[in-house]
Amino acid sequence: MCGIVGYLGKANAPSVLISGLKRLEYRGYDSAGLAILDGDKVLVSKASGKVANLSERASINWPPELFKRVGTGIAHTRWATHGPPTEVNAHPHLDKTGEIALVHNGIIENYRALRARLEGKGHHFVSETDTEVLSHLIGDCDKGDLFQAVCDALHQVEGTFGIAVISSREPGKIITARRGSPIVIGVGDGEAIIASDASAIVAHTQRVIYLDDDDIATVTADSVDIRDLNNVPVTREIAELGLDASVAEKGGYEHFMMKEIHEQPDALANAIRGRLDLQLGSSVLAGMSASQRELAELSRVVMVGCGTSLHAAMVGEYAFEDLADIHAEVQQAAEFRYRNPIIGNRDFVVAISQSGETADTLAAVKEAQQKGAFVMSLVNVVGSTIARETGRGVYLHAGPEISVASTKAFTCQVSVLLMMALKLGRGRRYSREEGLKLAREIDSIPELVNRVIAKNDLIAEIAENYVKDEHAFFIGRGPMYPVALEGALKLKEISYIHAEGYHAAELKHGPIALLQPGTPVIAVACEGPAKDKTLGNVEECRARGARILGIITEGDTNAEEVMDDFISIPKAHPLVATIPAVVALQIFSYHVARLRGCEIDQPRNLAKSVTVE
Ligand code: G6P
Repeated sequence: MCGIVGYLGKANAPSVLISGLKRLEYRGYDSAGLAILDGDKVLVSKASGKVANLSERASINWPPELFKRVGTGIAHTRWATHGPPTEVNAHPHLDKTGEIALVHNGIIENYRALRARLEGKGHHFVSETDTEVLSHLIGDCDKGDLFQAVCDALHQVEGTFGIAVISSREPGKIITARRGSPIVIGVGDGEAIIASDASAIVAHTQRVIYLDDDDIATVTADSVDIRDLNNVPVTREIAELGLDASVAEKGGYEHFMMKEIHEQPDALANAIRGRLDLQLGSSVLAGMSASQRELAELSRVVMVGCGTSLHAAMVGEYAFEDLADIHAEVQQAAEFRYRNPIIGNRDFVVAISQSGETADTLAAVKEAQQKGAFVMSLVNVVGSTIARETGRGVYLHAGPEISVASTKAFTCQVSVLLMMALKLGRGRRYSREEGLKLAREIDSIPELVNRVIAKNDLIAEIAENYVKDEHAFFIGRGPMYPVALEGALKLKEISYIHAEGYHAAELKHGPIALLQPGTPVIAVACEGPAKDKTLGNVEECRARGARILGIITEGDTNAEEVMDDFISIPKAHPLVATIPAVVALQIFSYHVARLRGCEIDQPRNLAKSVTVE
């Protein structure tokens, strides 16, 4: 949520900053801005809307020579929290003197009190943002040492921040700090690039330093000095990113979402590789680093997450109960700590997050740790806050996910959850024979997904029949119920069609009142114990004139007969089938949105990583 880039070094700062912002635009894209040091002045350019608007604005406002000179600067792309996404609310914000500029991710919770106090001292604010308050506070604290001023200001702040600050009084340096909102420093050869995530850095260097909470760094083109907020030096290792710059390119696809849908067979192969034991019919997950005995003593699995990750957790719930015979439940991460959950040291809490930065999921992790649970994470972004906070976990290895609508992260999350449940199950009631059968099925997931992707053109044709609808219902039962929820989420977020996911049995308890002749109902009715019941619910919808699109198993002629349209997926274990089924719905949603002319990778009002509660 929101993106930060800062640059010092041998290249032209405005150009580097704008291309860095473009790589971060998936995190927030309602307005953008940049500030650069030009002699003894701070020059600022801002625009509402996309980074392209900012780029155009800067090239009109600033002289062409500025785009040739080497320099220092900071930039930001915003997802509005305090105040609408106008130019005046866009970052960077200046202090009272106009000599200090700040970009900020996160929320300053006590900004009203700080603002009132500063107004009492003669400060005047032009925006509605909490960030402008912090920039004035830093200016107010500056007695000739910018680093100390930032430390002093941050001591007064409640809330979360990832920041980058420049001052025309101290050129050639950026002060950057974090609490609850990530900052990565790329250490190049005679240049440094600071960002809120590595995708803005990868084009410059592979060598990075991840700041920890309450770290504050003074960065120059040749040095990084990291301290805590009490000015005590701390040591942070340089890590290798191991990412290819091309991951942030569309690679010939029209949208990142389609690219990432097509990446799923490889992403899934990476998530599964080396983690299945095809001799013992189990899985090998180093991150579940407890003895088999400790695992056997766990009494409950509690999964927490938000959005698509929450839906993956719901599939996991079925898997843990079915395979491991262990009580499993899913809790919405934002609720977890406020409901005072009953959690103890025999509970196994799994935090699921693509980004590893979601504020609510992080807060749930801290609450579970506090209560003594065995906590681990299932995260995609290596080195992210949740991964580091839990210290124990399983990475998805799905590769960077840029499209705001999550695709490959979901399917990799589900496949890892299946492997976790298999491992737990083999320590409990699941036999070797059953384990082997499932392990082989998990191993075949990339191929199953390949076969669904091969139906892309057919699904695109089917999608044409749903382009003009304004409402749609998704239904499913058992593990296909969360698939229906995820299908509805995909369709609504990228096509803006009002889509609701329901348990198939629940439709008749209210939502069926909304069915009219022609209303689309997307029924996930693949082979499994719940299929016939789902088909019964399909009949109830048909009787009210609904138009049915079925996600069904290949060769299931009974199911074909009750559908107006159908997409068939390969036959698989009902838990494994959730993955190809969701891929069919991803492709369907994508084509509906494309045909409706929507901005698929950057849907309105959304952000990729939600670092505010
Ligand atoms: C945002 C994204 C969703 C994502 C959710 C949770 O809302 O738009 O795609 O599922 O956050 O994110 P996480 O990174 O924790 O999985």
